[in-house]
Amino acid sequence: MLALPWASSPPVPPPVKKKLCFSTSSSSKRTASATIPLVNKKHSASSAHLLLSRGRALMAATVTAPAFSDDDQRKELLLRHLGEDGGWVEEQMLSLLTPVDEAWQPADLLPTFAAATAEEHRTQVAELQARAAGVPDELLVCLVGNMITEEGLPAYMTMGNRAGGGAGIVDATGCDDHGWARWLRGWTAEENRHGDVLNRYLYLCGRVDMRQVETTVHHLLRRGMSMLEPSCPYHGFIYGAFQERATFVSHAHTGKRAALHGDACLAKLCGVIAADEKRHEVAYTRVVARSLEGDPDGVVRALAAVMRAKVTMPGERMTDGRDDNLFDHFSAVAQRAGVYTAADYGDMVEHFVRRWKVAELEGLSGEGRRAQDYVCGLPRKIRRMEELAHDRAAQKEAQSVNISWVFDRPVRLH
Ligand SMILES: [Fe+2]
Ligand SMILES: [Fe+2]
Repeated sequence: MLALPWASSPPVPPPVKKKLCFSTSSSSKRTASATIPLVNKKHSASSAHLLLSRGRALMAATVTAPAFSDDDQRKELLLRHLGEDGGWVEEQMLSLLTPVDEAWQPADLLPTFAAATAEEHRTQVAELQARAAGVPDELLVCLVGNMITEEGLPAYMTMGNRAGGGAGIVDATGCDDHGWARWLRGWTAEENRHGDVLNRYLYLCGRVDMRQVETTVHHLLRRGMSMLEPSCPYHGFIYGAFQERATFVSHAHTGKRAALHGDACLAKLCGVIAADEKRHEVAYTRVVARSLEGDPDGVVRALAAVMRAKVTMPGERMTDGRDDNLFDHFSAVAQRAGVYTAADYGDMVEHFVRRWKVAELEGLSGEGRRAQDYVCGLPRKIRRMEELAHDRAAQKEAQSVNISWVFDRPVRLH
């Protein structure tokens, strides 16, 4: 059994103060300073989605994992118990959600036209556009890809409600009162602001072809995503921890690069989103750690299954109606820009192996020990694959692709 490792959890970022970037009440309160949870690319968190494959990073979000045939009912009972009124989910997860009246909203971060004068509108938007003018196309492509992925939220909420298991874990009525249902709705409400604020920034900055961006969102929602096969209730939570960490890294890196290019407002937007993702990561990480206490064998096998499974990003099926390889192109641009890289993926796997103390698990079955060995050896394998991919990429000639999001301008892939 593992001891509760809460003490080693990453610190939860403090709540974001309102009026972060633009204020309708007083233009003098506008501030361009950005305090974002930037990460060191080399050693930072890695993120959730990238999987090395043929030298390029693929972002991860959905998992098709092999089915477990053993006592899934016991796993569900364990999880259902955690979600009971006043129980573990309430204490350890719901407490991580920001109360609505303390939460940031997109209107705090971007010009809002309702209260300002016409003159102020023009000034605010002009300031935003002047800052955005220095953002290179490759970073815009990363930002658009991140935004479109966030806008796929209806599919993710649906997935969250299917992957959890049975009654008492999923939100069966849409307004269930148990902890898991309240978490799912609260998580969705926080996530919903991410697509909103990025979408609004992109609209106002005038740097991207919004119709193409919107068309891509439309396509993605119609096409859906590969869903996690709900064969084991642990899969979704393990996946959630990885995915949240990946999005944290991706948004934080985007923000850091935006700041370097002089767009402090965009850096601030990405920073507050990254801080949300970090809290979500902490929540899912806690679920897995808590499950390990009660069922280390089941969890380590689930972890190995998720790692072995085909892992793809929620936005993998995106298209703008013209480019059938749009997601691959977005991933390649993100890799080259350092927004989400193969190294980040390796860092992420290493982080969770350490965080969940996988190497120290005891009392495992034969299958559990094989899963443990596999998972513990994975970071080294990923590093090796990363080196090979890096060498191959270095030998390739420079290649660009025209991307419709930035008015068909060419963007370097490698
Ligand atoms: Fe998000
Ligand atoms: Fe999140």
